Amino acid sequence: MELIDGKATAAAIKAEIAEEVKKIVANGGKQPHLAAVLVGHDGGSETYVKNKVIACEQCGFKSTLIRYEADVTEDELLACVDKLNKDEDIDGFIVQLPLPKHIDEQKIIMAIDYRKDVDGFHPINVGRMAIGLPCFISATPLGIITLLQHYHIETSGKKCVVLGRSNIVGKPMAQLMMQKQFGDATVTVCHSHSANLKKECQEADIIIAAIGKPNFVTADMVKDGAVIIDVGTTRVPDATRKSGFRLNGDVKFDEVAPKCSFITPVPGGVGPMTICSLMKNTLAAGKKEFY
Ligand code: GUN
Repeated sequence: MELIDGKATAAAIKAEIAEEVKKIVANGGKQPHLAAVLVGHDGGSETYVKNKVIACEQCGFKSTLIRYEADVTEDELLACVDKLNKDEDIDGFIVQLPLPKHIDEQKIIMAIDYRKDVDGFHPINVGRMAIGLPCFISATPLGIITLLQHYHIETSGKKCVVLGRSNIVGKPMAQLMMQKQFGDATVTVCHSHSANLKKECQEADIIIAAIGKPNFVTADMVKDGAVIIDVGTTRVPDATRKSGFRLNGDVKFDEVAPKCSFITPVPGGVGPMTICSLMKNTLAAGKKEFY
């Protein structure tokens, strides 16, 4: 079994990005600039956004954090998006999800200029991704593809089961794994209402677990030699930690790991790669690579 080190892989890619930014700036070009909009004080979102700002520093990007209280109105947030769309210094921006219930997330995403949508959530980017056109690809699926390539894991013709059908991970992940230039795999998507989920997993060469249920994937669901990618990041209480919690993946790591050829840990697997992909997208936005 080989442990997939997302932290080290992400660090190496961020160092490459930083080198490229140095060259751009040395040649009189502009430092890429990412803005992040954070609404409320959700612990998870605070951590993710903080890590995105740190990654910007590591890559030599400029970053701007815009904060709103949880009672911000939809109109106020739409006005913020409009301002960021028009701000010529900002190459790309994200609105951290989830948003409070009174705000229509899809309406906010649709308001983002797709040319600055470094999250790859706008329908134009989602659609272009689905038909294999250049675009911003959602950061977590892109990070997973990068990891599979970095570790030279064979995906072509393999049976891949994606657990979960979210717009952010499950759906784009299945799309990419199916496409010739990314996964070239035979893909099955399973979710909370799938009848034969266990059997599908048992037959899979690659399982990508993004179902949001801690320890959902157990050893009896995994065939010998399978590749396991764990996207789960549920916060579970842990009195032994200073923070009072730990991140728990969707995979029961201790019993599944011995059966695998490759497996990602939580934390230190997919998480750092998600942020690294956002940096890649921001660099591409700065270079006007897609639009
Ligand atoms: N919430 C969880 N993951 C993400 C992400 O990749 N982008 C944004 N904007 N919000 C998220």
